[in-house]
Amino acid sequence: METSIYRVFDIEQDAAALDRAAALLRAGRLVVIPTETVYGLAADALNPSAASAIYAAKGRPSDNPLIVHIADPEQARPLVKRLPDAYFALAERFWPGPMTVILEKSARVPYETSGGLETVALRMPSHPVARELIRRAGTPLAAPSANLSGSPSPTCAGHCIQDLTGRVDAIIDGGSCTVGVESTVLTLCTDPPAILRPGAVTLEMLREVLPDIRLDPGVFAHLPDGAKAASPGMKYRHYAPKARVVLLWGTLVQFAAYLEAQPPGCGVLCFEGEQARFGGHPCVTYGRRDDPVSQAQALFGALRRIDELGLTSVYARVDSPDGVGQAVYNRLLRAAGFTEIRLGWEESAT
Ligand code: TXA
Ligand code: MG
Repeated sequence: METSIYRVFDIEQDAAALDRAAALLRAGRLVVIPTETVYGLAADALNPSAASAIYAAKGRPSDNPLIVHIADPEQARPLVKRLPDAYFALAERFWPGPMTVILEKSARVPYETSGGLETVALRMPSHPVARELIRRAGTPLAAPSANLSGSPSPTCAGHCIQDLTGRVDAIIDGGSCTVGVESTVLTLCTDPPAILRPGAVTLEMLREVLPDIRLDPGVFAHLPDGAKAASPGMKYRHYAPKARVVLLWGTLVQFAAYLEAQPPGCGVLCFEGEQARFGGHPCVTYGRRDDPVSQAQALFGALRRIDELGLTSVYARVDSPDGVGQAVYNRLLRAAGFTEIRLGWEESAT
């Protein structure tokens, strides 16, 4: 299939491109769209064959449900059994923005979109191009991250062009994503409600609206074989560059000393300004130390850069997982297949 690239930086000036993309979506075709978190591979969420085509284009397991993107909180009404008060409280505080809410689905949402589940994940993105496209398409859009399954999520159009050219009808280039990691996913279908994937809307922020919300145990722990995941996405190896990634906990001095004992081809994923400490080892940076927002923005680009450099083995610096740092650590853990070394502490490689 031929893939058209549309540049849309201004909703009014680029209205013709938006209309072409909306027409493709109405016809059940696949269009990559920018959002504030990562790019999404979008199709009509209410069209079963369009939703199935998303799985085929990504190489995604068909039991991993898609997020349904809406342009207005009320657009969720026909998609769910019931909209609880908590839904409106969350929407009021965090939408449009990087938060996804799971509710019981109605019959309107096909199982192709919900991955066979009786629940549906809903998100109202803040990216103006995403919302305008939902409006013009006149239907909610199912959109997983626009990467090939298993590879790091795309944070600019170039990443999507790399992964999906020839597999989708169009890619909309709307610039770089400002958040850089995927939305916070939470479920209102459990009591208490739970975060299934941390993101830029943090646990602390959510507690202001839902005081009893908790982190699902699968967020930071490797699920044992055969365990039932609260979110199907937890089961799959994610965000992984081809290189073997190991997370190294320790001070900069401990980290540098550990690297000295490694072969020179072994790479380092570190913070800006630290490269000089790892003389000789190829370095890729991901944001600034003690600044998880900058780390989130840079992380997926850095994981792709590791592959471009052809590195086979990489040791990563890690920061304390607080606030948005929880999202960064959650993605790093999956990129590393849960392999962590605590310098001066025990080694864990589950
Ligand atoms: O920021 C984002 O959320 C991006 C942009 C494009 O909006 N989308 C995204 O989609 O990250 P995806 O498909 O890559 O990740 C969705 C995650 C998956 O881990 C999936 O298992 C989980 O959300 N999920 C979706 N629906 C669910 C449901 N009904 N129950 C449990 N987990 C669900
Ligand atoms: Mg994804």
